[in-house]
Amino acid sequence: MNLTIPPFAKWLAVVFTVVLVALAFFAAPISSEKVQRGYRGTGMELVLNASTLDEKLEASQVPAEPWPREDTTDGPLASEVYENVQVLGHLQSANFDRLMAAITEWVSPEQGCAYCHGEEGNFAGDDLYTKVVSRRMIQMTQHINSQWTNHVAGTGVTCYTCHAGQPVPENIWFDDPDALYAGGLVGDRAGQNIAAPEIGMTSLPQDVFRPFLYEDANIRVNGNEPLPHGNTASIKQTEWTYGLMIHMSESLGVNCTYCHNTQNLGSWKQAPPTRATAWHGIRMLRDLNVAYLEPLGPVYPQMRLGPLGDAPKANCATCHQGVYRPMFGAQMLVDYPSLQAPGPEDLQDPPMQQTSEIAQ
Ligand code: HEC
Ligand code: HEC
Ligand code: HEC
Ligand code: HEC
Repeated sequence: MNLTIPPFAKWLAVVFTVVLVALAFFAAPISSEKVQRGYRGTGMELVLNASTLDEKLEASQVPAEPWPREDTTDGPLASEVYENVQVLGHLQSANFDRLMAAITEWVSPEQGCAYCHGEEGNFAGDDLYTKVVSRRMIQMTQHINSQWTNHVAGTGVTCYTCHAGQPVPENIWFDDPDALYAGGLVGDRAGQNIAAPEIGMTSLPQDVFRPFLYEDANIRVNGNEPLPHGNTASIKQTEWTYGLMIHMSESLGVNCTYCHNTQNLGSWKQAPPTRATAWHGIRMLRDLNVAYLEPLGPVYPQMRLGPLGDAPKANCATCHQGVYRPMFGAQMLVDYPSLQAPGPEDLQDPPMQQTSEIAQ
């Protein structure tokens, strides 16, 4: 049989080829870098997309010091000069002022001092909730940097690590009413089966933060003994574990092999040291959420609380923001020794106070 090709099909083929060639020619080359994370041949590699990496690097530029720190013990202390400094009174007042300038740059660069002190500049008063929250944030930062060095090392964190120039950090979480009270017409979804961004748009349970980063639910899939007695991990627990693992991977911008030899996910012996760092990170977050962030609930105005009335809390992304080391490991803390550990006067937590005003 003689196959005749209709002329329009020939034209179509020509146009198609031209478009393809043009695309190949003009499309931006996507360059990627591979970093080997484990033994050769184990496939433990991290693939980094160079253009997203550049974007992230750009976004990770840290603000410069407002002015150099004074290294003297001659000047008056903040507690002598000011009326109501409960956690930073031991600082030289010049260095106290410098820290105020830095905090403003880190948390409320647009709103300025007024965000915590009001338009009238009532510096000693505690009427704005933002100031009361900030005092607790100073203590939390000192606590992270002194108590959680097995996670944050000497790099540590400043307000900027989480806030990045905004009063409300980009990544926070609340209890999810869909996850907790799923039901009604569609039946009980047991907190899963809707594509949720926090777990990479999978249908895994999305309420992984409360059990794992607030409570200390067991993060296990494998049993220690053979079935039928050994493995007490349920399918639900397995799905939850994977939900958390996806959150951790996405928060750091890495894949599973950053922390596991995927040939045996449970094995600590085969895992790179990053897994141990992550283990401490999980414990650190439970501590921060339970001891610092959730108890701030009564201090916040209603509009800052979650749909179920709980306070905003932190997860891996709050600090990491898509990068394996926050701000690519920028060393900011060295310039602010007052944030490295609590001062001598801070033996007791300051009283919490209920206010609900916000300075715009
Ligand atoms: C993000 C919140 C925040 C911002 C912004 C901020 N401060 Fe403060 N400020 C505080 C906190 C918290 C205290 C109390 C510290 C303590 O109790 O040790 C304080 C205390 C003070 C005090 C002591 C007042 C007294 O008599 O007790 C002065 C002065 C001060 N700030 C000045 C400034 C200046 C100037 C700026 C702007 C450059 C500024 N602050 C920006 C949170 C903030
Ligand atoms: C580990 C991350 C983390 C660090 C470090 C941190 N914060 Fe926060 N901060 C949070 C979270 C989470 C919230 C809750 C967000 C909200 O208010 O909705 C918050 C809220 C606040 C608010 C209330 C903002 C508002 O409008 O509701 C202020 C002010 C603040 N932080 C100041 C500070 C200061 C000052 C420091 C450094 C001394 C600091 N934070 C360090 C995580 C952090
Ligand atoms: C940033 C490090 C990190 C990344 C990335 C990571 N994990 Fe994990 N994974 C851990 C840690 C730490 C534990 C143990 C948690 C604990 O015991 O508290 C764990 C536990 C597990 C477990 C349970 C093992 C057992 O003993 O039952 C599984 C399964 C798992 N991860 C799978 C994954 C998968 C799949 C990925 C990729 C989607 C992944 N992980 C990404 C750190 C990581
Ligand atoms: C309070 C901020 C903060 C939070 C929250 C946080 N991290 Fe980190 N993390 C850091 C800092 C800072 C470093 C850098 C430490 C250093 O320089 O060695 C780090 C380092 C790491 C590293 C080591 C990276 C490397 O290549 O050395 C891993 C892995 C990691 N974090 C995982 C996690 C996971 C998983 C979570 C959530 C369970 C988490 N982190 C939550 C601040 C944080």
